[in-house]
Amino acid sequence: MKVLVTGVTGQLGYDVVRVLRGRGVGTVGAARAGMPLDDSARTRAFVLETRPDAVIHCAAYTAVDRAEDERELCHAINAEATRAIAGACEEIGAKLVYISTDYVFPGTGEAFYETDDETAPCNAYGASKLAGESAVRDAMKSGRFFIVRTSWVFGIHGRNFIRTILGFAKTRDALTVVDDQVGSPTYTADLAELLADMADSEKYGVYHATNEGVCSWAELAAEAIRLRGLSTKVTPVSSEMYPTKAVRPKNSRLSKSSLDRGGFRRLPDWKDAVKRYLAELKAIGE
Ligand SMILES: NC(=O)c1ccc[n+]([C@@H]2O[C@H](COP(=O)([O-])OP(=O)(O)OC[C@H]3O[C@@H](n4cnc5c(N)ncnc54)[C@H](OP(=O)(O)O)[C@@H]3O)[C@@H](O)[C@H]2O)c1
Repeated sequence: MKVLVTGVTGQLGYDVVRVLRGRGVGTVGAARAGMPLDDSARTRAFVLETRPDAVIHCAAYTAVDRAEDERELCHAINAEATRAIAGACEEIGAKLVYISTDYVFPGTGEAFYETDDETAPCNAYGASKLAGESAVRDAMKSGRFFIVRTSWVFGIHGRNFIRTILGFAKTRDALTVVDDQVGSPTYTADLAELLADMADSEKYGVYHATNEGVCSWAELAAEAIRLRGLSTKVTPVSSEMYPTKAVRPKNSRLSKSSLDRGGFRRLPDWKDAVKRYLAELKAIGE
């Protein structure tokens, strides 16, 4: 099997390549220079030339606040390039694993979102990722695709909330962090294993995949600080204290029953994932 992975300079793509190569799977990593997603024709050509058996499409425009001002660019990268990739996959009979987000949901209430719940993104980034999902469905009438919605991603290769918090905690006695947005952190090392399993299977469909358990951003910050052995105090505050350009969903709880139905193993608990992530950071001197 040959797998093409997009976004290899990002958090998830980096770990997907690492996992696939660790399993001895022939892997081609695509970065911006070879596959510029703002150029759908070149994106399509890259897939056709590579002729993979499967594509794990991790690359995306992920600047959530900037997306409010760059809607067209965000849509081109997250929706139109995804359409080009999906169309090329269909043409050559390749499977596609498309990574989507909790932001396709409105984020209201407290219930866990099921995969077939109604979508209604509350910001431009979410709308572009949902358009990417539609593009996959439209372009791949064969149904040989996986749509995998994840949330609150952290990994060794890139910036993320945990790294930012630990950076602040080194020099501050106290931090204020929002506690009225609830969801599930997702360690790319864990998600990458699942995506590699999916690409090797025929269990197509829409899935939700995060580490198990839920928390608020304040709880995630406090746990990372505790595990790092720092004494910085985390004071929970409401989102209104931190206005952002893009609206953030307050409820990002994703039901993982789709993984059970598909016969895939759920990811480990988020606290266990954060612990392993801190060990990984320590190993590189962070
Ligand atoms: N981060 C989260 O909390 C989160 C939550 C839910 C879902 N997701 C989804 O999970 C996936 C992985 O996220 P991540 O955190 O790994 O993202 P990330 O670290 O921000 O990486 C994004 C990747 O996309 C590439 N990219 C962006 N614009 C591009 C362009 N015009 N042409 C080619 N490549 C381009 C980046 O390349 P450069 O390095 O060259 O910029 C980078 O490799 C994405 O689909 C994202 O939508 C993420």
